[in-house]
This record gives sequence, structure tokens and C-alpha cells, in this order.
Amino acid sequence: MPSTLALFFVLLGTLCSFIYFFRTPTNNKNGRKLPPGPPQLPIIGNLHILGNLPHQSLHRLAKKYGPIMSIKLGYVPTIVVSSAEAAELFLKVHDVVFASRPKVQSADYLTCGAKGLAFTEYGSYWRTVRKWCILHLLSASKVECFTLVRKEETVLLVESVRKTAPEAKTLNISQQVGKVVEAIMSRVIFGRRMDDEIEFKPLIEETMYLAGVFNLSDYVPLLAPLDLQGLKRRLKRTSNGLHAIFDKLIDEHEQGSTNTEERNSYTDFFHVMVSLLNTPMNPTDKEQYIIGRENIRAILVDMVAASFDTTTTAIEWTLSELLRHPRVMTCLQQELETVIGRNRMVEEADLPKLTYLDMVVKESLRLHPVAPLLIPHESTEDITVTGYFIPKKSRIVVNTWSIGRDPKVWSDNAEEFFPERFEDSSIDLRGHDFQLIPFGAGRRGCPGMQLGLTTMRLIIAQLVHCFDWELPNAMLPNELDMTEKFGLSVPRAEHLFAKPTYRLVG
Ligand code: HEM
Repeated sequence: MPSTLALFFVLLGTLCSFIYFFRTPTNNKNGRKLPPGPPQLPIIGNLHILGNLPHQSLHRLAKKYGPIMSIKLGYVPTIVVSSAEAAELFLKVHDVVFASRPKVQSADYLTCGAKGLAFTEYGSYWRTVRKWCILHLLSASKVECFTLVRKEETVLLVESVRKTAPEAKTLNISQQVGKVVEAIMSRVIFGRRMDDEIEFKPLIEETMYLAGVFNLSDYVPLLAPLDLQGLKRRLKRTSNGLHAIFDKLIDEHEQGSTNTEERNSYTDFFHVMVSLLNTPMNPTDKEQYIIGRENIRAILVDMVAASFDTTTTAIEWTLSELLRHPRVMTCLQQELETVIGRNRMVEEADLPKLTYLDMVVKESLRLHPVAPLLIPHESTEDITVTGYFIPKKSRIVVNTWSIGRDPKVWSDNAEEFFPERFEDSSIDLRGHDFQLIPFGAGRRGCPGMQLGLTTMRLIIAQLVHCFDWELPNAMLPNELDMTEKFGLSVPRAEHLFAKPTYRLVG
């Protein structure tokens, strides 16, 4: 399919270039100055330059055209933001103008016409859903409620890895991490682990791909009926799969046959939501939204997609960097030994004391931001930013992958994995320091940051504290393949494998 698409672009591009000359986007039709950018082809604009890893292609282009760059994706004017200062302008100074999301085909299918949270346009529905999700799932106090869930699941993870260790087997770390994250997030969101017959993982991976891929139908609507990339078919299949799972869970709940494990310790998100089916989500507000089945499906797709894959990917990259940098792995193990000792596993209460772990996590998210282009933002009015005119309904793509590699901020060793750069540095990753925004910033910043970070830190700390790790087949650290696979999140292209040896006493 990519080769058919490439051929299509080549033919279309050649045809168009006979008809028109290349145009460079210096001025819009009213003569106002647009940000600089590469020449555009008619119809497809700059779609042909994105390649397999668009964040990397855009990073290279920004070196030539600057941190606020204008490109055209099909018919859609797009602004690519690639420096910390520029990101601050878009996500803080003028945040309210850029806080919407574009209407895209993937959201139509996956979230029933953007009835969830992540792909919903800025406005009162989005505000209601976001407040509601924070209150019932993502607030600091809710995240704390699930400490026991994380503890139980990480103990099971360590036991399972420990079993494989003496047989000198190479472990598929990606798979193990994926399983434990799925178990934790399922218990947090649904109040239960998923049965074996519910296969979330392939559906979520496909969702992240379909939500992130540059879909021709969104940019050249004329071509949408042809479905040249075959994405509409895949979107239908994936959304049907996810919605069927959620419908089954809702039906079970309505018939009172739900197998919920922790009803006594807290009321989970799913049960709060389903118990409000067909009632207003916000009874005290002026504008009331009745929560129907489609809203529940859409919100669940967002929660499941936003939590399973992002957290797994972030952990996978961090462990990959630790395996590639044995010095850093040793420093982290030494910190864990000093703070915790070798006689017990890590507890969540230990995490605030693990300052080197904190630096490792920041460094990993700097080089491997899970969603390198965030989720696309859209402007809701015409605006001028640093002298450049940005028309209403422009798509805003913030390239955090590029920001994390800016040598002006991170010095000449920007490409190197070196956690010590955060020693005596006040740079944090929570959206206030625009050099490091793996969770985005401003109104659309990630509301699940606390849940994601806590889960990520605990799993990494546990795996590094309980085990020594060795790469398979006498592979040297610098031989570990670090190729990326593009989607809304960018995971490793290949699974990560290593051989564990248990290192705690008892
Ligand atoms: C390490 C883990 C995570 C990372 C790196 C991450 C990163 C991000 C990023 C970059 C965005 C886009 C921000 C923007 O467009 O400006 C985002 C949005 C979002 N995240 Fe996360 N996330 C993580 C975990 C979670 C978790 C656990 C949840 C909750 C279940 C979650 C829920 C969301 C939602 C709902 C949005 C959309 C917010 C909106 O549009 O208003 N995320 N996340």
C-alpha cells in the first residue's frame, strides 16, 4: 500500500508540476506575510515530503525554514512549530486561539464523530468531558487510590520475569511491559483485568496508527471516496472491534453481571460513567450534555488509547536507552540500592526520593517524546504571531521531537542520552518549561500525566532494581536497533529483548 501511494504521489506531482510552477508560501491571498516554508505542489501541497517518519522530515525542514514554518498538507494550511520559544507562543501566549482540534476521519469513526475528549473541538462539550474525566479518573487523589493496583500488578510482573530468569531465556520486554500496563490501566478504568478473550492490544496499536497517520481524505477531501490508503476500511474494522468490546461491557453492567474486583476500595471510572447512562453529565451547568452510549464508547476509546500505548512506549524507550548505556543503568541501580536496599522491592512511596530515576525519565522523554507531534491543534481565528499571519482553521503541529534536540537549548551533545544534564537544572516536563513538553502544555496538555508518570516510574524502577539485564546474542549496547515506527505515538519498530538475572536478596 505505501508503494501504491508513493506511485500515486509521484504521478500526481509530475502532472501538477506540468500545470503549475512551484509556489513558495510567502504571502496569502490578502498579501499578509505567512511563515516561511518549502515550495508547494498544487493539490497535494507538501504531503509528499512527510515520508515514513514525518517528525524527522519536518525536523530537517525546520533547520532550513525556521521554528515557525508554513507547509500545506493537501488543501490544509499547516504551521509547524519547532522551538521552545515558538511553542510557548502557540501553547501559552495564544493558547486559547490554538486550543481546538481539526475534524478528522479517524475521530469520526473511532470516537463516534469526536464525542470523546482528545479529538473534540474546543468548547463547552470538551470542557465538560475533560472536567469529568479528571474528577472521576485522573485527579491526583484518584491516581493515589490506585496505588494498591499498581503494587499488585508490578509484583506479578516481577514474579513472572523471575520465573524465566534461571532458564537463561531472552525475555520480550515490550510484551511484558505491554501486559502489565494493560492490566493496570484496565483495573483503573474498568475496575477489572480484561479476560483473555478481550484482545485490546492489537486494536489499540491500530488505533494509534490510524489516529496519527497523515490521511489523504482529511487533506484532499476530493479524494476521500477513493480511500487510496485503505484507511477507511481499517478505521471501520478497528472502531467496530473497540465499540463491540465496550458495548458488551455496558450490557454486562446493565444486566448486573459485571465481574468487578475492587468494588469496595473505590468506584472505577467505567462504573461511574455507565451508572449515569442517559442522564446529564453536568446537572448543574447551563448547557447540559446527556451521556449516551456513543459518548461512553468515545470517551473510553480515548482513555484506553491514551493510556495503554503511551505509557508502554515511554517505558520501552527508557529501558532501551538504559540497555544502550550500561553506565547509566549502573548509576540508577546504585541509587535504588542506596534508597531501598537489596532486601525489598520498590514501593510507590520511594519514588519521590529517586532523583536519578527522575533525570533518566526526563532524558528519555526528551529524546523519545511518545507523541512527537502532539495531537494536532487547530486555530479558531485569524491571528498574527511574531509578524506572521496564521489563518483561521490552520493546523498546528508542534514538533517536540525537534524541540528536544535543539542544540541551542541542549548543547552540542543534544543527540546523546545523558541524564546528568538535568543535574542542578530546574527544567521540568509538566508543561511549564517549553524546552521539554512530552505531555504538551496549556489547555490541551495531557490530563493523564500524573497517572502515566507514576506508572512509568514504578515499572522502570522495579525492573531495574530487581534484575540485571543483558542484551541477547552477545549484542553490544551500541548495536541495539532504535528504529521508530510512526503513528500518533511512536514506539520502537521492533520489540525489545534482553536476558534478566534476579538481583535482590530473598
Ligand atoms: C507517559 C504517558 C503519557 C504521555 C507521554 C502522554 C502524552 C500526551 C500528549 C503529548 C498529549 C497531547 C497534548 C497536546 O495535544 O497538546 C496528550 C493528550 C492527552 N492524554 Fe496523555 N500521555 C500519557 C498518558 C496518558 C494517560 C495515562 C491518560 C489517561 C487515561 C492520558 C490521556 C490523555 C488525553 C485524554 C489527552 C487529550 C487531552 C485533550 O485534548 O484535552 N494520557 N497526552
